[in-house]
Parts: sequence; structure tokens; C-alpha cells
Amino acid sequence: MENIRFDFNNMFNVNIGSAHGVEDSDISEISKEAERAHEHLSKVVNDSQSRIKLSLEWMRLPYQDAGFIKEIKALGDEIAKKYDNVISLGIGGSYLGLKAAQDALAAPYFNEFPGVRNKRPRIYFEGNNLDPDTLSTLLKNLNPKKTFVVVISKSGETTETKAALVVVENWLKKSLGKNYTRQVFAITDPESGSLRKRVIEEQKKDKLSFRSLSLLKGVGGRFSEFNMGLLHLAIIGIDINKVFSGAKDMALRCSVSDYQKNPAYMYAILHNILYRKKSKPLAIMMPFSETLKSTADWYVQLLAESLGKKYSRKIMLANDGIEEWQRDKENVINTGRTPIPCRGTNDLHSIQQNNIEGENDKVVTFIRVKKFKTEIKVPGKGDILSGRSFSELMQLAQEATEWALSREGRPSCTILIPEVNAYHWGALLFFFQVATAFEGELLNVNAFDQPGVEGYKNYMYFKLGKPGISKSIIDEIKGNSLKKDPKYII
Ligand code: PA5
Repeated sequence: MENIRFDFNNMFNVNIGSAHGVEDSDISEISKEAERAHEHLSKVVNDSQSRIKLSLEWMRLPYQDAGFIKEIKALGDEIAKKYDNVISLGIGGSYLGLKAAQDALAAPYFNEFPGVRNKRPRIYFEGNNLDPDTLSTLLKNLNPKKTFVVVISKSGETTETKAALVVVENWLKKSLGKNYTRQVFAITDPESGSLRKRVIEEQKKDKLSFRSLSLLKGVGGRFSEFNMGLLHLAIIGIDINKVFSGAKDMALRCSVSDYQKNPAYMYAILHNILYRKKSKPLAIMMPFSETLKSTADWYVQLLAESLGKKYSRKIMLANDGIEEWQRDKENVINTGRTPIPCRGTNDLHSIQQNNIEGENDKVVTFIRVKKFKTEIKVPGKGDILSGRSFSELMQLAQEATEWALSREGRPSCTILIPEVNAYHWGALLFFFQVATAFEGELLNVNAFDQPGVEGYKNYMYFKLGKPGISKSIIDEIKGNSLKKDPKYII
């Protein structure tokens, strides 16, 4: 089978000039660091306790037990058979992977047309914002009797998801009575959090209420599509084994120690060089495919939360002999490339002007699809477009964009994907995950925490009067209120 390939020609000086391109000497310079990064990552990944403690257990997700996958498939089929609609509640890592899968692997216009849905329920994503308009419109128009709800939250505490769940529960209860809880399914932490507590309480009363799946330990939200996203895949009828098989094959390719032969390592190394040595802090992710746009959105979270860090990582050895990664408060680095999701060809008519003539501070990653699921040819004769297929035009547009960027000395690289299917999509996600973990090693940051997102959460919890907020957080908020001087508001 043809594999995903990574083409990095246009990252190099030979194509885009020395001012902005990687030079061979840059590669030699980073080689020791890359070897160290590989050794360290492999050491952690090859030890099950370290993997769990340091949140690298996602590396093992494609190898989950076949019996378990069968059970998920049966569960998905059961829900699909019984319900017309599924509302999936979740945000961040509990949403973006599912949305990416939905758009990449389910047929376009899935919710609109029964013919493309293949007897599967419509899927609605909610609980990922606090805009009341979408949820209220949805609930006004769905039939609660025909709607199943899957709530996904590792912590069970996330405001957006928690608030939406209460609203949806009320809505179900009004028309179904107390047994509405049989139409709610939870995916959450195996032990802790309010959602798990709720599952335990409901299950005690009725085994069919709030059935649940447990998230695996040592897997952070943004690395968990192959964990928390499985039921969604099963509901929409995607072959999970194919997704896993793509991920496993990619895992093998991305475990090779020779970084020149490892696509994920090369992706990380080249971006790292351009970031550190050629002032390229912006990462434009531009699939030339409508169905991969949400995969670009998923990548935004992956890159931003994993590598956008204030402090450098301090590696300590705990009493159990396992590494502990701490934030080195003495070493403020404020690092991390800024991801920007785009899509070709749509965004060639917007951001492309800036990509070509604005500041030369970005690296564009194209995802180029070789074969689309369907084909359309422009009918007629006599026009330059006549007889051309859409996929031919799409590929030409991608090639043209690559050319235009390189003419202006602007770095880009291309991920060539033979087809957007379960196998290659699984491989694509795994590729980006390994590349991000490896880049974390090169930057020496903890790629698996996200302390930066706690600030706004704490502020909201404080204002909402949540019990149990620590004194230091309360003091920080009280002592540093937002200043709103009317003279700066017109
Ligand atoms: O990557 C992460 O861990 C976060 O983005 C979370 O996924 C997000 O905050 C949602 O959290 P939870 O699943 O606990 O509701």
C-alpha cells in the first residue's frame, strides 16, 4: 500500500535561499540534540510506568485489545440502530479529534442527507462553547425521544461541557421522565471527577443509566482521539481497526532512530531549525482538502497546548526512580510556534496574500491528497477548465502555491496523503503526535501539560464561587483585578 510521504524540499536553502532556508550545516549542528531527543523519548516510551506518569501512554493506543474494539463497535451499532441523532458534548481534546474524524472520514453533508449517512445517526457537537444560540436552536429542533447524548470530559469539571450537560439533561427529562438517563453515556476518568461520581451514582440505581467508558491513564486530552474518540467512530460506522492499523504503521516509521529516515523527526527538526534560526514563529497548516480542515483545527490544539510554554522543563528523578518533569521557574523561555489553521484552495483568497508578501515569519505545511473519494469533471469544451477534473485543479493549485511561496523565499513542506481514509487518517494523526512530542524534546518543554489554560478557568471558578479554590489563586485574582479605565474605551 502507498504510504504517507513527507516532502521537505522547500524548507531548504537550495530552493528558497540561505536567508530563510535550512542549510545542511544546520542539520549537522542539531544532530547530537536530535539523537539525545530520540534516546530520551524512547527511554520514556519503553517503560510503562514512565509512559503513564509522564502522559505518553497515547503511544500505545493503537495497540488496544481487539476484544475491546469489538465491544465498542457493538455499542456504536446499538446506538446507531436506535437513535436518529447523537449530541456529543465536549471541548478541546474531548471534541477536536472527534470533529476532525467526522469531517475527514464520514461523508460530506453527513447530517443533511440520509443517503450518505448509511443508516447512521446525525451527529451534533455541542458543549464546546458558551454561545447559547446553537444549543437552543438544536434542542428546539431535535426530537428528544430519538436523541442519544454522549458527554466527554476527562475532568468532568469543564464549564462549557458541564453547563451544556445540565441543559441537555433537563431537555431530555422534560419529555422522557426519570429514565432519560438511559439516553446519556459518559466518557470520563476511570476514578476521579464529578462526571465519574455521577456515573457511579446512576449505575447504582440502574445499570442502563449513564453507561460509561473510562479514559486511559496517562493520555492527555489532545493525544486521546484513539481513546475517547472510539465510540464516535463506531457510531458513524468507521472501521477502528483500519484507523489503528494506519497509526501502527506510522508508529513504526516514526520510531526509527536515524532521524533522516524518520518523517516525524524530520518534520520536528526542520520546523525547529526554522523557528530558532530563521525567525519563523508562525505555523500555517493548510490541507488542500475541505474534509481535512478540522484536522488542521485539531493540530492547532496539539501544537499550541503542547509546545507553547513559559518555562523550560527540569527533569528530576523521583523516589520511585521514575523521571518527573517540572517547570523550571528560573528559566522563562516563552517558547512555541503559533499554529494557524487554513484550507486550500479557500484560503488562497484570503491569508495567502500575507503568506506571500507579509512578514517572512511563517512555515506553511500543505497536506496534499492524491486521490479524492469522488471525481467531478468540468463539462463543456473550449474553456481552459473544460474537461479538467476537480482533483487535477486542486493539485495544480497546491503546486502553484508551493511554487509561489518558494519564489518569494518562503519555506513550506508537503505531507502527501494517498487518500483521506481511515488508515491514512490514523497514520496522519500519529505522525503529528510523534512530531510534536519530538519537538517538545528539542525545545526541552513538557509537551503533555497545559498549565496556561488554567488561568482563565480559575478566574471563572472564582467569580462563580466554586468551593475549594486555593488561597494563592484567590489572592492573585483579588490583587490583580482587570483594569477598565473609561479613558481607554471610546
Ligand atoms: O488537552 C487537554 O487536556 C485539554 O484541552 C482538555 O481536553 C480540555 O480542557 C477539556 O477537558 P476535559 O476533558 O477535562 O473536559
